[in-house]
Amino acid sequence: LNMKARGSLLKFLQKVDTFVHRTIGTNVVAAQEEREGCKSLYAVEAERQEQAERSVLISCHSRTNEKKFLNFLSRHGDINKYFFYESYGMYALVEFTNQESLSSLFEAAAIPSVSHESIVPFKSRLLSLRNLGSMESPNHQVGQQCQLQTSIPINKLIQRLSREESIDQQITSLTDVYQLTEENSRLRFLVCSLLKDIAAAYFPESTIKAFGSSVNGFGKLGCDLDMFLDLDGISEKCAKMPRSGLWLEYQMKQAISERAVTQSILSVIGDCVDQFGPGCVGVQKILNARCPLVRFTHQPSGFQCDLTANNRVAIKSTELLYLYGELDPRVRHLVFTVRCWARAHGITSSIPGAWITNFSLTVMVLFFLQRRSPPIIPTLDNLRDLAGPTDKSVIEGNDCTFVSDFSKIHLQSNTETLEKLLCEFFEFYATFAFNKMSISIRKGKELNKPEMAPLHIQNPFESSLNVSKNVNVTQLDRFVAVCQESSWLLQQKETSTPNEGKAPTPWGLAALLMPSKVAGIKGRKKRRREPASERIKSLLESLKTTN
Ligand code: CTP
Ligand code: MG
Repeated sequence: LNMKARGSLLKFLQKVDTFVHRTIGTNVVAAQEEREGCKSLYAVEAERQEQAERSVLISCHSRTNEKKFLNFLSRHGDINKYFFYESYGMYALVEFTNQESLSSLFEAAAIPSVSHESIVPFKSRLLSLRNLGSMESPNHQVGQQCQLQTSIPINKLIQRLSREESIDQQITSLTDVYQLTEENSRLRFLVCSLLKDIAAAYFPESTIKAFGSSVNGFGKLGCDLDMFLDLDGISEKCAKMPRSGLWLEYQMKQAISERAVTQSILSVIGDCVDQFGPGCVGVQKILNARCPLVRFTHQPSGFQCDLTANNRVAIKSTELLYLYGELDPRVRHLVFTVRCWARAHGITSSIPGAWITNFSLTVMVLFFLQRRSPPIIPTLDNLRDLAGPTDKSVIEGNDCTFVSDFSKIHLQSNTETLEKLLCEFFEFYATFAFNKMSISIRKGKELNKPEMAPLHIQNPFESSLNVSKNVNVTQLDRFVAVCQESSWLLQQKETSTPNEGKAPTPWGLAALLMPSKVAGIKGRKKRRREPASERIKSLLESLKTTN
Protein backbone atom coordinates (compact mmCIF):
# COMPACT_ATOMS: atom_id res chain seq x y z
CA LEU A 1 0.00 0.00 0.00
CA ASN A 2 1.22 3.52 -0.69
CA MET A 3 1.26 6.11 2.10
CA LYS A 4 -2.08 7.67 1.11
CA ALA A 5 -3.90 4.35 0.93
CA ARG A 6 -2.35 3.38 4.26
CA GLY A 7 -3.54 6.65 5.81
CA SER A 8 -7.13 6.08 4.64
CA LEU A 9 -7.07 2.48 5.81
CA LEU A 10 -5.81 3.57 9.22
CA LYS A 11 -8.57 6.19 9.52
CA PHE A 12 -11.17 3.61 8.52
CA LEU A 13 -9.87 1.13 11.10
CA GLN A 14 -9.90 3.81 13.79
CA LYS A 15 -13.57 4.53 12.95
CA VAL A 16 -14.37 0.82 13.18
CA ASP A 17 -12.59 0.71 16.52
CA THR A 18 -14.59 3.67 17.85
CA PHE A 19 -17.80 2.10 16.60
CA VAL A 20 -16.95 -1.20 18.26
CA HIS A 21 -16.17 0.66 21.45
CA ARG A 22 -19.49 2.56 21.40
CA THR A 23 -21.44 -0.66 21.08
CA ILE A 24 -19.71 -2.25 24.07
CA GLY A 25 -22.14 -3.47 26.64
CA THR A 26 -25.15 -3.04 24.38
CA ASN A 27 -23.96 -6.11 22.53
CA VAL A 28 -23.04 -8.50 25.29
CA VAL A 29 -23.69 -11.57 23.12
CA ALA A 30 -21.23 -10.42 20.46
CA ALA A 31 -18.63 -9.75 23.15
CA GLN A 32 -19.16 -13.24 24.58
CA GLU A 33 -18.75 -14.80 21.12
CA GLU A 34 -15.60 -12.79 20.60
CA ARG A 35 -14.22 -14.11 23.89
CA GLU A 36 -14.91 -17.66 22.85
CA GLY A 37 -12.74 -17.03 19.78
CA CYS A 38 -9.88 -15.64 21.93
CA LYS A 39 -6.67 -17.59 21.86
CA SER A 40 -5.11 -18.46 25.18
CA LEU A 41 -1.68 -16.98 25.86
CA TYR A 42 -0.32 -20.52 25.66
CA ALA A 43 -1.62 -20.91 22.07
CA VAL A 44 -0.33 -17.48 21.02
CA GLU A 45 3.11 -18.28 22.46
CA ALA A 46 3.30 -21.71 20.82
CA GLU A 47 2.57 -20.13 17.41
CA ARG A 48 5.12 -17.35 17.89
CA GLN A 49 7.79 -19.76 19.15
CA GLU A 50 7.34 -21.96 16.11
CA GLN A 51 7.63 -18.94 13.78
CA ALA A 52 10.78 -17.84 15.59
CA GLU A 53 12.42 -21.24 15.10
CA ARG A 54 12.13 -20.74 11.33
CA SER A 55 13.57 -17.20 11.41
CA VAL A 56 16.98 -15.56 11.08
CA LEU A 57 18.22 -12.06 11.81
CA ILE A 58 20.42 -10.49 9.12
CA SER A 59 22.46 -7.33 9.47
CA CYS A 60 22.52 -5.54 6.12
CA HIS A 61 23.50 -2.29 4.47
CA SER A 62 20.93 0.50 4.74
CA ARG A 63 20.69 0.76 0.95
CA THR A 64 20.19 -2.96 0.32
CA ASN A 65 17.92 -3.55 -2.64
CA GLU A 66 14.89 -5.37 -1.28
CA LYS A 67 14.11 -7.35 -4.43
CA LYS A 68 17.65 -8.64 -4.89
CA PHE A 69 17.89 -9.43 -1.20
CA LEU A 70 14.76 -11.57 -1.37
CA ASN A 71 15.84 -13.31 -4.57
CA PHE A 72 19.15 -14.15 -2.97
CA LEU A 73 17.57 -15.64 0.18
CA SER A 74 14.77 -17.42 -1.69
CA ARG A 75 17.39 -19.78 -3.12
CA HIS A 76 17.20 -21.53 0.23
CA GLY A 77 13.41 -21.80 0.38
CA ASP A 78 10.15 -19.84 0.44
CA ILE A 79 10.01 -16.80 2.67
CA ASN A 80 6.87 -16.49 4.76
CA LYS A 81 7.45 -13.04 6.21
CA TYR A 82 10.23 -10.46 6.39
CA PHE A 83 10.73 -6.89 7.48
CA PHE A 84 13.54 -4.38 7.84
CA TYR A 85 14.21 -2.27 10.93
CA GLU A 86 16.96 -0.17 12.44
CA SER A 87 18.87 -0.82 15.66
CA TYR A 88 22.54 0.30 15.67
CA GLY A 89 22.38 -0.29 11.87
CA MET A 90 19.93 -1.93 9.49
CA TYR A 91 18.60 -5.44 10.13
CA ALA A 92 16.12 -7.75 8.47
CA LEU A 93 14.09 -10.44 10.20
CA VAL A 94 13.42 -13.22 7.69
CA GLU A 95 11.00 -16.04 8.45
CA PHE A 96 11.18 -19.04 6.11
CA THR A 97 8.17 -21.25 5.45
CA ASN A 98 10.11 -24.40 6.36
CA GLN A 99 12.80 -24.88 8.95
CA GLU A 100 14.91 -26.96 6.50
CA SER A 101 15.66 -23.73 4.62
CA LEU A 102 17.83 -22.68 7.55
CA SER A 103 20.20 -25.65 7.10
CA SER A 104 20.62 -24.73 3.44
CA LEU A 105 21.28 -21.11 4.41
CA PHE A 106 23.87 -22.11 7.04
CA GLU A 107 25.67 -24.40 4.59
CA ALA A 108 26.13 -21.47 2.24
CA ALA A 109 27.20 -19.02 5.00
CA ALA A 110 30.91 -18.27 5.43
CA ILE A 111 33.00 -17.83 8.59
CA PRO A 112 34.15 -14.19 8.84
CA SER A 113 37.81 -13.57 8.17
CA VAL A 114 39.39 -11.19 10.66
CA SER A 115 42.96 -9.99 10.50
CA HIS A 116 43.86 -8.62 13.95
CA GLU A 117 41.46 -10.45 16.25
CA SER A 118 40.30 -14.04 16.67
CA ILE A 119 36.75 -15.24 16.30
CA VAL A 120 34.75 -17.21 18.88
CA PRO A 121 33.57 -20.26 16.89
CA PHE A 122 29.89 -20.13 17.91
CA LYS A 123 27.46 -20.12 14.97
CA SER A 124 24.03 -18.57 15.51
CA ARG A 125 21.03 -17.39 13.51
CA LEU A 126 22.40 -13.86 13.54
CA LEU A 127 24.09 -13.30 10.18
CA SER A 128 25.56 -10.45 8.13
CA LEU A 129 25.04 -9.78 4.44
CA ARG A 130 28.46 -9.07 2.85
CA ASN A 131 30.08 -8.04 -0.46
CA LEU A 132 26.93 -6.87 -2.01
CA GLY A 133 27.87 -3.61 -3.67
CA SER A 134 25.70 -4.63 -6.62
CA MET A 135 22.75 -5.14 -4.28
CA GLU A 136 22.67 -1.56 -3.14
CA SER A 137 19.74 0.40 -4.35
CA PRO A 138 20.37 4.02 -5.38
CA ASN A 139 16.90 5.20 -4.40
CA HIS A 140 16.94 4.26 -0.67
CA GLN A 141 13.92 1.99 -1.18
CA VAL A 142 14.48 0.10 2.02
CA GLY A 143 14.58 3.21 4.20
CA GLN A 144 10.90 3.85 3.49
CA GLN A 145 9.92 0.30 4.44
CA CYS A 146 11.81 0.36 7.70
CA GLN A 147 9.65 -0.65 10.68
CA LEU A 148 9.86 1.54 13.78
CA GLN A 149 10.72 -0.47 16.89
CA THR A 150 10.38 2.41 19.33
CA SER A 151 7.38 4.54 20.28
CA ILE A 152 7.00 8.19 19.31
CA PRO A 153 8.27 10.82 21.79
CA ILE A 154 5.76 12.28 24.23
CA ASN A 155 5.58 15.73 22.54
CA LYS A 156 4.60 14.09 19.23
CA LEU A 157 2.01 12.00 21.07
CA ILE A 158 0.54 15.13 22.69
CA GLN A 159 0.25 16.78 19.24
CA ARG A 160 -1.43 13.71 17.81
CA LEU A 161 -3.91 13.38 20.67
CA SER A 162 -4.80 17.09 20.50
CA ARG A 163 -6.13 16.53 16.97
CA GLU A 164 -8.59 13.80 18.08
CA GLU A 165 -12.26 14.60 18.51
CA SER A 166 -13.07 12.99 21.85
CA ILE A 167 -11.28 11.75 24.97
CA ASP A 168 -12.37 8.21 24.09
CA GLN A 169 -10.65 8.56 20.72
CA GLN A 170 -7.55 9.99 22.39
CA ILE A 171 -7.34 6.94 24.64
CA THR A 172 -7.71 4.41 21.80
CA SER A 173 -5.25 6.41 19.70
CA LEU A 174 -2.66 6.29 22.51
CA THR A 175 -2.98 2.50 22.66
CA ASP A 176 -2.58 2.27 18.86
CA VAL A 177 0.63 4.26 18.95
CA TYR A 178 2.20 2.60 21.98
CA GLN A 179 1.26 -1.08 21.78
CA LEU A 180 3.72 -3.63 20.44
CA THR A 181 3.46 -4.16 16.71
CA GLU A 182 3.20 -7.57 15.06
CA GLU A 183 6.83 -7.16 13.93
CA ASN A 184 8.14 -6.14 17.33
CA SER A 185 6.44 -9.12 18.89
CA ARG A 186 8.05 -11.49 16.33
CA LEU A 187 11.42 -9.92 17.08
CA ARG A 188 10.95 -10.55 20.82
CA PHE A 189 10.21 -14.23 20.26
CA LEU A 190 13.17 -14.50 17.89
CA VAL A 191 15.51 -13.12 20.58
CA CYS A 192 14.15 -15.75 23.02
CA SER A 193 14.76 -18.41 20.38
CA LEU A 194 18.33 -17.21 19.74
CA LEU A 195 19.02 -17.33 23.45
CA LYS A 196 17.55 -20.81 23.64
CA ASP A 197 20.23 -21.92 21.17
CA ILE A 198 22.87 -20.78 23.69
CA ALA A 199 21.14 -22.42 26.69
CA ALA A 200 20.61 -25.61 24.66
CA ALA A 201 24.38 -26.16 24.59
CA TYR A 202 24.04 -27.17 28.26
CA PHE A 203 20.36 -28.10 28.49
CA PRO A 204 19.11 -29.39 25.12
CA GLU A 205 15.55 -29.78 26.39
CA SER A 206 15.24 -26.28 27.81
CA THR A 207 13.12 -23.51 26.32
CA ILE A 208 13.25 -19.77 26.82
CA LYS A 209 9.84 -18.18 27.26
CA ALA A 210 8.93 -14.51 27.21
CA PHE A 211 6.85 -13.17 30.10
CA GLY A 212 5.85 -9.78 31.51
CA SER A 213 4.82 -6.92 29.26
CA SER A 214 6.30 -8.47 26.08
CA VAL A 215 3.42 -10.95 26.08
CA ASN A 216 0.76 -9.88 28.61
CA GLY A 217 -0.90 -7.44 26.18
CA PHE A 218 0.25 -4.31 28.05
CA GLY A 219 3.70 -3.92 26.50
CA LYS A 220 4.75 -0.59 25.05
CA LEU A 221 7.21 -0.39 22.13
CA GLY A 222 10.66 -0.23 23.74
CA CYS A 223 9.71 -2.11 26.94
CA ASP A 224 12.21 -4.60 28.36
CA LEU A 225 12.19 -8.27 27.37
CA ASP A 226 11.62 -10.52 30.39
CA MET A 227 12.68 -14.09 29.74
CA PHE A 228 12.46 -17.29 31.67
CA LEU A 229 14.69 -20.34 31.23
CA ASP A 230 12.27 -23.23 31.46
CA LEU A 231 13.86 -26.52 32.53
CA ASP A 232 10.60 -28.13 33.63
CA GLY A 233 10.59 -30.61 30.76
CA ILE A 234 13.71 -32.16 32.27
CA SER A 235 12.37 -32.54 35.83
CA GLU A 236 9.03 -33.95 34.56
CA LYS A 237 10.85 -36.77 32.80
CA CYS A 238 12.72 -37.60 36.01
CA ALA A 239 9.43 -37.88 37.89
CA LYS A 240 8.26 -40.82 35.75
CA MET A 241 9.37 -44.04 37.43
CA PRO A 242 7.82 -47.52 37.48
CA ARG A 243 6.23 -48.91 40.64
CA SER A 244 8.19 -52.15 40.56
CA GLY A 245 10.99 -53.91 38.73
CA LEU A 246 14.24 -52.45 37.49
CA TRP A 247 14.74 -48.95 36.22
CA LEU A 248 17.54 -46.58 35.49
CA GLU A 249 17.85 -43.10 36.79
CA TYR A 250 20.23 -40.30 35.93
CA GLN A 251 23.06 -39.51 38.27
CA MET A 252 22.71 -35.85 39.00
CA LYS A 253 24.54 -33.36 41.17
CA GLN A 254 22.62 -32.03 44.14
CA ALA A 255 22.77 -28.57 45.65
CA ILE A 256 21.63 -27.19 48.99
CA SER A 257 18.52 -25.43 47.63
CA GLU A 258 16.53 -24.76 44.50
CA ARG A 259 17.71 -21.16 44.71
CA ALA A 260 21.35 -22.33 44.66
CA VAL A 261 20.64 -24.43 41.53
CA THR A 262 18.96 -21.46 39.81
CA GLN A 263 21.91 -19.24 40.70
CA SER A 264 24.51 -21.63 39.32
CA ILE A 265 22.57 -22.27 36.09
CA LEU A 266 22.05 -18.56 35.50
CA SER A 267 25.69 -17.88 36.29
CA VAL A 268 26.89 -20.33 33.63
CA ILE A 269 24.33 -19.22 31.01
CA GLY A 270 25.24 -15.61 31.83
CA ASP A 271 28.92 -16.36 31.09
CA CYS A 272 27.96 -18.04 27.79
CA VAL A 273 25.82 -15.08 26.76
CA ASP A 274 28.67 -12.74 27.67
CA GLN A 275 31.47 -14.64 25.95
CA PHE A 276 29.80 -16.41 23.03
CA GLY A 277 26.51 -14.60 22.34
CA PRO A 278 26.87 -12.41 19.24
CA GLY A 279 25.26 -9.01 19.77
CA CYS A 280 24.82 -9.51 23.55
CA VAL A 281 26.57 -6.71 25.47
CA GLY A 282 26.72 -5.29 29.00
CA VAL A 283 26.00 -8.63 30.68
CA GLN A 284 25.40 -8.30 34.45
CA LYS A 285 24.72 -11.25 36.73
CA ILE A 286 22.35 -10.17 39.52
CA LEU A 287 22.23 -13.47 41.35
CA ASN A 288 21.55 -12.31 44.91
CA ALA A 289 18.22 -10.62 44.09
CA ARG A 290 14.98 -12.19 45.44
CA CYS A 291 14.55 -13.45 41.90
CA PRO A 292 18.09 -14.05 40.50
CA LEU A 293 18.59 -12.77 36.95
CA VAL A 294 21.06 -12.06 34.15
CA ARG A 295 20.62 -8.63 32.54
CA PHE A 296 22.07 -7.64 29.16
CA THR A 297 21.40 -5.65 26.01
CA HIS A 298 20.74 -7.50 22.79
CA GLN A 299 22.11 -4.94 20.35
CA PRO A 300 20.68 -6.28 17.07
CA SER A 301 17.13 -5.94 18.44
CA GLY A 302 17.84 -3.06 20.84
CA PHE A 303 16.10 -4.93 23.68
CA GLN A 304 17.10 -4.67 27.31
CA CYS A 305 16.84 -8.31 28.40
CA ASP A 306 16.26 -9.85 31.83
CA LEU A 307 16.77 -13.61 31.95
CA THR A 308 15.44 -15.48 34.98
CA ALA A 309 14.93 -19.15 35.78
CA ASN A 310 12.53 -20.98 38.07
CA ASN A 311 10.14 -18.03 38.11
CA ARG A 312 6.86 -19.80 37.47
CA VAL A 313 4.69 -17.51 39.61
CA ALA A 314 5.64 -14.59 37.34
CA ILE A 315 4.56 -16.68 34.34
CA LYS A 316 1.19 -17.22 36.02
CA SER A 317 0.75 -13.50 36.72
CA THR A 318 1.58 -12.83 33.05
CA GLU A 319 -1.17 -15.27 32.00
CA LEU A 320 -3.59 -13.59 34.39
CA LEU A 321 -2.86 -10.08 33.10
CA TYR A 322 -3.24 -11.33 29.52
CA LEU A 323 -6.61 -12.85 30.38
CA TYR A 324 -7.87 -9.62 31.99
CA GLY A 325 -6.70 -7.64 28.94
CA GLU A 326 -8.60 -9.94 26.59
CA LEU A 327 -11.85 -9.85 28.56
CA ASP A 328 -12.80 -6.28 27.72
CA PRO A 329 -11.00 -3.82 25.38
CA ARG A 330 -11.34 -1.05 27.98
CA VAL A 331 -8.86 -2.87 30.24
CA ARG A 332 -5.93 -2.50 27.84
CA HIS A 333 -6.90 1.06 26.85
CA LEU A 334 -6.99 2.18 30.45
CA VAL A 335 -3.76 0.41 31.41
CA PHE A 336 -1.89 1.94 28.45
CA THR A 337 -3.24 5.39 29.29
CA VAL A 338 -2.42 5.21 32.99
CA ARG A 339 1.08 3.80 32.32
CA CYS A 340 1.80 6.58 29.82
CA TRP A 341 0.39 9.26 32.14
CA ALA A 342 2.50 7.92 35.04
CA ARG A 343 5.68 7.91 32.93
CA ALA A 344 5.02 11.48 31.71
CA HIS A 345 4.87 12.67 35.34
CA GLY A 346 7.86 10.67 36.57
CA ILE A 347 5.62 8.49 38.75
CA THR A 348 7.26 5.46 37.10
CA SER A 349 10.89 5.36 36.00
CA SER A 350 13.20 3.18 33.95
CA ILE A 351 15.64 3.20 36.91
CA PRO A 352 14.77 0.82 39.77
CA GLY A 353 14.06 2.61 43.07
CA ALA A 354 11.24 3.84 45.30
CA TRP A 355 8.97 4.54 42.32
CA ILE A 356 5.69 2.77 41.58
CA THR A 357 6.33 0.10 38.91
CA ASN A 358 4.28 -0.54 35.80
CA PHE A 359 3.24 -3.90 37.23
CA SER A 360 1.89 -2.24 40.41
CA LEU A 361 0.05 0.37 38.31
CA THR A 362 -1.53 -2.34 36.18
CA VAL A 363 -2.79 -4.13 39.29
CA MET A 364 -4.19 -0.79 40.54
CA VAL A 365 -6.11 -0.32 37.27
CA LEU A 366 -7.47 -3.88 37.45
CA PHE A 367 -8.57 -3.32 41.04
CA PHE A 368 -10.33 -0.10 40.08
CA LEU A 369 -12.19 -1.92 37.27
CA GLN A 370 -13.28 -4.62 39.73
CA ARG A 371 -14.68 -1.88 42.01
CA ARG A 372 -16.96 -0.35 39.34
CA SER A 373 -20.67 -0.92 39.69
CA PRO A 374 -21.36 -3.29 38.02
CA PRO A 375 -17.76 -4.60 37.93
CA ILE A 376 -16.05 -4.60 34.52
CA ILE A 377 -13.80 -7.57 35.33
CA PRO A 378 -14.17 -10.45 37.82
CA THR A 379 -12.04 -10.98 40.92
CA LEU A 380 -9.26 -13.56 40.92
CA ASP A 381 -11.28 -15.66 43.38
CA ASN A 382 -14.14 -15.70 40.81
CA LEU A 383 -11.70 -16.85 38.13
CA ARG A 384 -10.38 -19.57 40.45
CA ASP A 385 -13.92 -20.83 41.11
CA LEU A 386 -14.51 -21.19 37.34
CA ALA A 387 -11.33 -23.29 36.86
CA GLY A 388 -11.52 -26.83 35.53
CA PRO A 389 -9.40 -29.80 36.71
CA THR A 390 -6.64 -29.14 34.13
CA ASP A 391 -6.31 -25.52 35.33
CA LYS A 392 -5.15 -26.57 38.78
CA SER A 393 -1.76 -25.08 39.59
CA VAL A 394 0.09 -24.91 42.89
CA ILE A 395 3.55 -23.31 42.79
CA GLU A 396 5.73 -23.42 45.88
CA GLY A 397 2.64 -23.84 48.04
CA ASN A 398 0.77 -20.92 46.41
CA ASP A 399 -2.57 -21.57 44.76
CA CYS A 400 -2.20 -20.18 41.22
CA THR A 401 -5.34 -21.82 39.84
CA PHE A 402 -7.66 -19.84 37.59
CA VAL A 403 -9.85 -20.57 34.58
CA SER A 404 -8.16 -20.81 31.17
CA ASP A 405 -11.32 -21.26 29.09
CA PHE A 406 -12.42 -17.68 28.34
CA SER A 407 -15.92 -18.78 27.29
CA LYS A 408 -16.73 -19.80 30.89
CA ILE A 409 -16.38 -16.18 32.02
CA HIS A 410 -19.61 -14.18 31.89
CA LEU A 411 -19.18 -10.47 32.37
CA GLN A 412 -21.73 -8.06 33.76
CA SER A 413 -23.10 -5.38 31.50
CA ASN A 414 -21.19 -2.20 32.30
CA THR A 415 -21.39 0.45 29.55
CA GLU A 416 -19.18 3.18 31.00
CA THR A 417 -17.09 5.10 28.45
CA LEU A 418 -13.32 5.31 28.58
CA GLU A 419 -13.55 9.01 29.42
CA LYS A 420 -15.77 8.30 32.40
CA LEU A 421 -13.49 5.49 33.57
CA LEU A 422 -10.37 7.62 33.31
CA CYS A 423 -11.99 10.44 35.36
CA GLU A 424 -13.19 7.95 37.93
CA PHE A 425 -9.77 6.26 38.13
CA PHE A 426 -8.15 9.54 39.16
CA GLU A 427 -10.96 10.30 41.61
CA PHE A 428 -10.77 6.79 43.08
CA TYR A 429 -7.05 6.96 43.85
CA ALA A 430 -7.08 10.67 44.76
CA THR A 431 -9.28 9.72 47.73
CA PHE A 432 -8.18 6.13 48.46
CA ALA A 433 -7.39 5.34 52.13
CA PHE A 434 -3.79 4.27 51.41
CA ASN A 435 -2.90 4.70 55.11
CA LYS A 436 -5.23 1.91 56.24
CA MET A 437 -6.14 -0.21 53.23
CA SER A 438 -4.46 -2.74 50.97
CA ILE A 439 -5.37 -3.40 47.32
CA SER A 440 -6.34 -7.00 46.51
CA ILE A 441 -7.40 -8.12 43.03
CA ARG A 442 -7.87 -11.62 44.45
CA LYS A 443 -10.76 -10.45 46.64
CA GLY A 444 -11.69 -7.43 44.51
CA LYS A 445 -12.04 -5.28 47.62
CA GLU A 446 -9.92 -3.26 50.02
CA LEU A 447 -8.39 -5.26 52.85
CA ASN A 448 -6.86 -4.02 56.08
CA LYS A 449 -3.16 -3.38 55.60
CA PRO A 450 -1.15 -6.23 57.14
CA GLU A 451 2.05 -4.13 57.39
CA MET A 452 2.97 -0.46 57.49
CA ALA A 453 4.26 0.04 53.95
CA PRO A 454 3.04 3.38 52.45
CA LEU A 455 1.46 1.53 49.48
CA HIS A 456 0.24 -2.02 49.94
CA ILE A 457 -0.77 -4.07 46.88
CA GLN A 458 -1.26 -7.72 47.62
CA ASN A 459 0.66 -10.01 45.26
CA PRO A 460 -2.12 -11.89 43.41
CA PHE A 461 -0.53 -15.33 43.91
CA GLU A 462 1.74 -14.89 46.93
CA SER A 463 -0.74 -13.10 49.15
CA SER A 464 1.74 -12.49 51.98
CA LEU A 465 3.89 -10.36 49.64
CA ASN A 466 3.47 -6.67 48.82
CA VAL A 467 4.03 -5.92 45.11
CA SER A 468 4.82 -2.27 45.91
CA LYS A 469 7.07 -2.78 48.92
CA ASN A 470 9.66 -0.49 47.33
CA VAL A 471 7.39 2.59 47.19
CA ASN A 472 8.11 5.34 49.75
CA VAL A 473 5.82 8.04 51.16
CA THR A 474 7.15 10.72 48.81
CA GLN A 475 6.38 8.70 45.71
CA LEU A 476 2.91 7.74 46.92
CA ASP A 477 2.15 11.40 47.74
CA ARG A 478 3.23 12.45 44.26
CA PHE A 479 0.95 9.81 42.72
CA VAL A 480 -2.02 11.04 44.78
CA ALA A 481 -1.26 14.71 43.99
CA VAL A 482 -1.13 14.09 40.22
CA CYS A 483 -4.34 12.00 40.43
CA GLN A 484 -6.04 14.97 42.13
CA GLU A 485 -4.73 17.40 39.56
CA SER A 486 -5.73 15.20 36.60
CA SER A 487 -9.19 14.63 38.04
CA TRP A 488 -9.57 18.42 38.39
CA LEU A 489 -8.32 19.06 34.82
CA LEU A 490 -10.88 16.64 33.41
CA GLN A 491 -13.65 18.54 35.18
CA GLN A 492 -12.67 21.92 33.66
CA LYS A 493 -14.44 22.84 30.43
CA GLU A 494 -11.35 24.57 28.90
CA THR A 495 -9.07 21.55 29.31
CA SER A 496 -11.59 18.76 28.76
CA THR A 497 -13.07 19.83 25.40
CA PRO A 498 -11.35 20.37 22.03
CA ASN A 499 -10.74 24.02 21.15
CA GLU A 500 -12.38 24.40 17.77
CA GLY A 501 -11.13 26.70 15.07
CA LYS A 502 -7.72 27.41 16.57
CA ALA A 503 -4.52 25.44 16.08
CA PRO A 504 -4.97 22.40 18.35
CA THR A 505 -3.67 23.09 21.84
CA PRO A 506 -3.35 20.18 24.30
CA TRP A 507 -6.77 19.24 25.68
CA GLY A 508 -8.29 16.18 27.34
CA LEU A 509 -5.77 13.35 27.67
CA ALA A 510 -3.12 15.47 25.90
CA ALA A 511 -3.47 18.11 28.66
CA LEU A 512 -3.05 15.42 31.31
CA LEU A 513 0.29 14.44 29.80
CA MET A 514 1.69 17.98 30.03
CA PRO A 515 4.09 18.71 32.95
CA SER A 516 2.24 18.74 36.24
CA LYS A 517 2.03 21.93 38.31
CA VAL A 518 1.55 20.14 41.62
CA ALA A 519 3.75 17.04 41.62
CA GLY A 520 7.08 18.85 41.89
CA ILE A 521 5.94 21.30 44.58
CA LYS A 522 4.20 18.72 46.75
CA GLY A 523 7.07 16.27 46.33
CA ARG A 524 9.64 18.89 47.39
CA LYS A 525 7.61 20.10 50.39
CA LYS A 526 7.06 16.58 51.57
CA ARG A 527 10.70 15.68 51.21
CA ARG A 528 11.71 18.55 53.49
CA ARG A 529 9.28 17.40 56.17
CA GLU A 530 10.26 13.74 55.99
CA PRO A 531 12.57 12.83 58.92
CA ALA A 532 16.13 11.77 58.06
CA SER A 533 15.50 8.25 59.44
CA GLU A 534 12.61 7.86 56.99
CA ARG A 535 14.79 8.98 54.06
CA ILE A 536 17.59 6.59 55.02
CA LYS A 537 15.07 3.76 55.42
CA SER A 538 13.59 4.33 51.97
CA LEU A 539 17.05 4.64 50.45
CA LEU A 540 18.02 1.29 51.98
CA GLU A 541 14.76 -0.24 50.75
CA SER A 542 15.37 0.98 47.20
CA LEU A 543 18.96 -0.33 47.30
CA LYS A 544 17.65 -3.72 48.43
CA THR A 545 15.15 -3.76 45.56
CA THR A 546 17.83 -2.76 43.07
CA ASN A 547 20.02 -5.61 44.28
N1 CTP B 1 6.11 -9.68 38.49
C1 CTP B 1 5.52 -10.24 39.63
N2 CTP B 1 5.66 -9.63 40.84
C2 CTP B 1 6.38 -8.50 40.97
C3 CTP B 1 6.99 -7.93 39.84
C4 CTP B 1 6.84 -8.54 38.62
O1 CTP B 1 4.84 -11.27 39.50
N3 CTP B 1 6.51 -7.94 42.17
C5 CTP B 1 5.93 -10.35 37.20
C6 CTP B 1 4.73 -9.80 36.44
O2 CTP B 1 4.14 -10.85 35.71
C7 CTP B 1 5.36 -8.81 35.51
C8 CTP B 1 6.67 -9.51 35.17
O3 CTP B 1 7.06 -10.14 36.40
O4 CTP B 1 4.54 -8.57 34.38
C9 CTP B 1 7.79 -8.63 34.67
O5 CTP B 1 8.07 -7.60 35.59
P1 CTP B 1 8.45 -6.14 35.10
O6 CTP B 1 9.42 -6.21 33.96
O7 CTP B 1 8.82 -5.35 36.29
O8 CTP B 1 7.03 -5.56 34.62
P2 CTP B 1 6.31 -5.59 33.22
O9 CTP B 1 4.88 -5.97 33.46
O10 CTP B 1 7.08 -6.40 32.24
O11 CTP B 1 6.32 -4.05 32.80
P3 CTP B 1 7.47 -3.19 32.06
O12 CTP B 1 6.86 -2.81 30.76
O13 CTP B 1 7.68 -2.02 32.95
O14 CTP B 1 8.69 -4.04 31.94
MG1 MG C 1 9.12 -6.08 31.85
